[in-house]
Amino acid sequence: MSIIEKAARRIDLERGQASMPAKSDAGIDVLEPVAAAPSLPPPAAPALPLPEAAQPAPADSPALRHNTRIVDLDLAKMRDMGLVTAAGGRTRLLEDFRIIKRPLLKRAFAEGQPKDKPGNLIMLTSSLPGEGKTYCAINLAMSIAMELDHTVLLVDADVARPSVLRTLGLPAQRGLMDLLVDDKLDVSDVLLRTNVDTLAILSAGTSTPRATELLASSTMANLVHEIANRYPDRIVIFDSPPLLLTSEARALASHMGQIVVVVEAQKTTQHALGEALRQLDGHPNVNLIYNKTRDIPGIEETYDYHYG
Ligand SMILES: Nc1ncnc2c1ncn2[C@@H]1O[C@H](COP(=O)(O)OP(=O)(O)O)[C@@H](O)[C@H]1O
Ligand SMILES: [Mg+2]
Repeated sequence: MSIIEKAARRIDLERGQASMPAKSDAGIDVLEPVAAAPSLPPPAAPALPLPEAAQPAPADSPALRHNTRIVDLDLAKMRDMGLVTAAGGRTRLLEDFRIIKRPLLKRAFAEGQPKDKPGNLIMLTSSLPGEGKTYCAINLAMSIAMELDHTVLLVDADVARPSVLRTLGLPAQRGLMDLLVDDKLDVSDVLLRTNVDTLAILSAGTSTPRATELLASSTMANLVHEIANRYPDRIVIFDSPPLLLTSEARALASHMGQIVVVVEAQKTTQHALGEALRQLDGHPNVNLIYNKTRDIPGIEETYDYHYG
């Protein structure tokens, strides 16, 4: 049985038994399950004080000296939508993403990463649409942005179905695709700073039929290299297309230091996951997030198991 089949089979087994090891014997790290957010807005929680790094940018912040645009994230609204924010909210969700980010942050700056796959470039993908890539990418980005030591760039690389800005309630903007087709544009021309000083966003930009080709191009490799190295403490999270519908995600994966495959509890099939992992075969660092686990019996024990 191949490594991929073992991993996929294990997921199916877990769906039946609701038990997940912290690290599978297939050598693929299995990250913490993420419970589904309640469909109703959560009860009002006392607002947590903003960590220093997540305070709104002061007027004389270096971030504001560039021409870069600043957009306002409505943190209270995000919290009510069940997203991680420094404005508090569901403590279980905050804790889930605290656990998910830890191994990713550890590897992001570990010694000995291949030069063409810097560890601080992290891609969120899945087999099919709707499994939670954007949800997990935004939450992971917010969770890391709340750390004191890191700044985060959230890139919407799902260029066919961009949804980061829409989910955050922001209007469409120029972004990644524009940078790849127009060599006069600089990252700073299209980067969006946010009212969370440690979080910037690069939108997918103007759609183009050449997206796959552009994502696999040497221009993209140079851009990614620049993005990875311009700020040494920066984590770059790529919200990506699904692996099974187009070849864009695979093209993107070739540049990434770490890949996180989102698996939707009780929905992603063993076959789909197996095919998705096959697309990533040979990548040195593939992780899984088990998402929307709410209705799985015994999930509390699983969570406790990981927590302990
Ligand atoms: N853990 C979760 N709890 C609650 N809702 C979720 C969760 N994960 C995803 N969703 C919701 O499921 C839908 C699809 O998620 P999305 O992140 O847009 O999927 P994808 O980016 O993979 O297409 C969205 O409405 C999203 O808010
Ligand atoms: Mg998406």
